[in-house]
This record gives sequence, structure tokens and C-alpha cells, in this order.
Amino acid sequence: MTPPATAPAANNLEAFFMPFTANRQFKKNPRLLARAKGVHYWTPEGRKVIDGTAGLWCVNAGHGREEIKQAIARQLEEMDYAPSFQMGHPKSFELAARHAAMLPGDLDHAFYCNSGSEAVDSALKIALAWQRARGQGTRTRLIGRERGYHGVGFGGISVGGMVNNRKQWGVLLPGVDHMPHTHLPAKNAFSRGLPEHGGVELADELERIVALHDASTIAAVIVEPCAGSTGYLPPPKGYLQRLRQICDKHGILLIFDEVITGFGRLGTGFAADFFNVIPDLMTVAKGISNATVPMGGVFVRKHIYDGLMNGPENVVELFHGYTYSAHPLACAAASAVLDIYKDEGLFQRSAELSKYWEDGMHSLKGLPGVTDIRNLGLAGGIDMEGRKDAPGARGYDTFVKAFELGLMVRQAADTIAMSPPLVIEKNQIDEIIDLAGKAIKATA
Ligand SMILES: Cc1ncc(COP(=O)(O)O)c(C=O)c1O
Repeated sequence: MTPPATAPAANNLEAFFMPFTANRQFKKNPRLLARAKGVHYWTPEGRKVIDGTAGLWCVNAGHGREEIKQAIARQLEEMDYAPSFQMGHPKSFELAARHAAMLPGDLDHAFYCNSGSEAVDSALKIALAWQRARGQGTRTRLIGRERGYHGVGFGGISVGGMVNNRKQWGVLLPGVDHMPHTHLPAKNAFSRGLPEHGGVELADELERIVALHDASTIAAVIVEPCAGSTGYLPPPKGYLQRLRQICDKHGILLIFDEVITGFGRLGTGFAADFFNVIPDLMTVAKGISNATVPMGGVFVRKHIYDGLMNGPENVVELFHGYTYSAHPLACAAASAVLDIYKDEGLFQRSAELSKYWEDGMHSLKGLPGVTDIRNLGLAGGIDMEGRKDAPGARGYDTFVKAFELGLMVRQAADTIAMSPPLVIEKNQIDEIIDLAGKAIKATA
């Protein structure tokens, strides 16, 4: 008789169905990470790789932070789990109060979940519920943007605008429309910081969509203040301000998806601070817990929360939530991360380093096939000319080459994006830029 298998065979990569990965290609030539500290990873063989992407735009305070580890361990000792449905635990309320205090404007309320995808779907639902609660139940349309990434829930992929994330899943949510993306390389290539051209005109495309559908059918508009996953596209000057004006004019809620920009990436707490534009709802994840325990959230303005607190007091106001909403371990981690951000002035540090980063990124101009470089805060994107009949091949090769050289970057088609942890040092930025340059040259 065959004994029951109690442990998987070592080195068998077959069982794990990897997300957003070419499984067969990867499993033939795997790239494994086994250990992390500060701004570095180590492979199982002990090769050191500098983290040019803060994991997946999420390890803002650097890897292996002792304070976070201790906070999680303490919480695990004290109480591993408590439900948040009709019950509560103190750390969730404390965390929400801390978040509310650091957020701009009257983003005074926090709804918690476990990921950016859940945050986006939660925000879309809150928007619909609020419109209905104020007697505007005909407002059911949601407006996203081409090239937007809002996670992988059905709401998120419906308002999202990246074709590969949409095409496998049928018709998605009905009643969704999209504004044009904001990437205008013909006019804005090699912009340092915010691109000059197209901001107001591109935002005015929302007026065209309103004219087509009528404002009375539109609940909300969702955008990433600075599009991340599509290759890092800072918005042209005036774009977000204009979107805010148009939404106000038509009673449409504005949602900022700050899953990447939140918690210091632009050198301010949030992109809302950076642009001085307050959205009605803001989605966050990633840096909220420094990626130690999965967590996401929706920050909600006072009038939206108040608008939902109506009807009899014994009735649940929002029939929505997750078993792990405000999980105690996530709350403990998120609170410890806030201490680090504050004590080490990491948002300020990100702002101070951003000029150095910008100069480093733009020093790669002129490398073979580089057609655009953009940056904002402590992140940037580099477009490369694709190979004939093989879109994305050069981008992938550059990503693999960079990893071989000891640098982790993100690849989106033929674009390379980088977003180091906010604790990065200048000499480490030099190293990242040097290795990225070598990888780009090697794949020309
Ligand atoms: C802007 C934005 N929204 C949502 C998400 C989805 O987050 P998650 O992967 O945690 O579901 C991401 C992930 O990269 C993101 O960049």
C-alpha cells in the first residue's frame, strides 16, 4: 500500500498555480526569493538582489522590520482573531482613528478588507449604496479609465482598462464606461514629474461621457491618481483637479485608487495630499501594512458615511464585509507601520529623494530603444521599443536580465517600472539605475 503523502516532494513546482505568471515558462527556469531584509532579497542559493520595486509596490518601510514583527507577535499572543460583524476589537477602532487623523480633508472613516482588489469592490459598492441612500438610485454606472488597474475582482476588472485582465471574463459588470488613458508620449515623452500637456482636455472627456449617458445614471468615477501597473503614468498637469470639478458639477463621486500611491510613494501621505484634491472615497492596501499581513481599506468622506447612517438603528447600513475585515494581526501590523512612517519621517524622505531618483531615471535616456522615461515621487517607468511581432518580449527579457544582474524590476509589456522602498539610500539608487541600464542595454 502506498503510504499517504504528508509532504510535497522537494523542488516540485507543479502544484502551485501561480498568479499573473507564465507558469510553464517560470517552472522551467524559476526565479525564487527566499529571504529579505532592508532593501534586499536573497535567492535560495544566497544571491543578493536589490529590491527596485518594494516587493510589488508595497514594502515601503523596507523588509524585515523588527517593530512590525513584534507587534504581530504580541497580537497573536493576545488574540489571534475576532469577528468584525456585530462585534469589534479595540485595535480596529484605534487604527481607523489614526488613519482618519492623517488623511486630508474629511476622509474620516475607514472600512477595512484584505487587499486592493477588495478595497476597490468595496468602494464601488459604497458609492452605489450612497447614491441609492440619497434617493439617486438611478445612478448605477461606474466610470473607469483605459489602462487603469483596480485589482482583479469583477468590479475592479470592469472599471479597469488593461485588456489582458478583462478579455477572459466575458461581459463583466454592465453599465461601465471608460475615459481615455493619459499617456501621450508624442507630446509628453521624457517628462520630469507631471507632464505638461493634455490634462484639462483629457479630463474633459468625462464631460463627453456624461453627455452620452446623463449624469443621473452615473454613480462614480474611479482613477489611480498616478496609474501604476500599466507602467507608471503620472497624470498631466491639472487633470485630477479638473476631474474633481466635473464630478462635483454632476453629483458624481470621485474615487482615488491609492493602492500604490498611498503611504508615501509620492512624498506625501497620499496622492490626495500631493495634488491637493480630496476624493470622496479612497482605496488603499499594500503600504498600509508594509505587506506583512494582507490588508486593504476604503477611506470614506464624512458626508458619504453620514449619508449611509440612516433608517432604523437596528438595521445594518452596508450589507458588505469580509471575515477578515480589520483582522487583529493586520491592525497590529498597520499600526506599527504608521509608527515607523512617522518616527522615521519616511514620507518626507521619499519627497527628499525624489529629485535624486528623477535624475537617476532620466540618466537612462539615450539607451538603445528607450522611447520614454517618466517619474513622480519615488517611482518611475521606462518604455522601450518592442521587438517586431513580439510585443512584451523585450520587456520580459529586460526583467529577467535585471534579476540575473541582481535587481528586481516590474515589467508591463515593453515597459519597466521601478518603485524602491522609501528607506532606500542614494548609493542604492545609483546601483538600481546602473543595473537597470545594464539590463536595458543587454536586451537591445
Ligand atoms: C491601483 C491598484 N488597485 C488595486 C490593486 C489590487 O491590489 P491587490 O493585488 O492587493 O488585490 C493594485 C495592485 O497592484 C493596484 O495597483
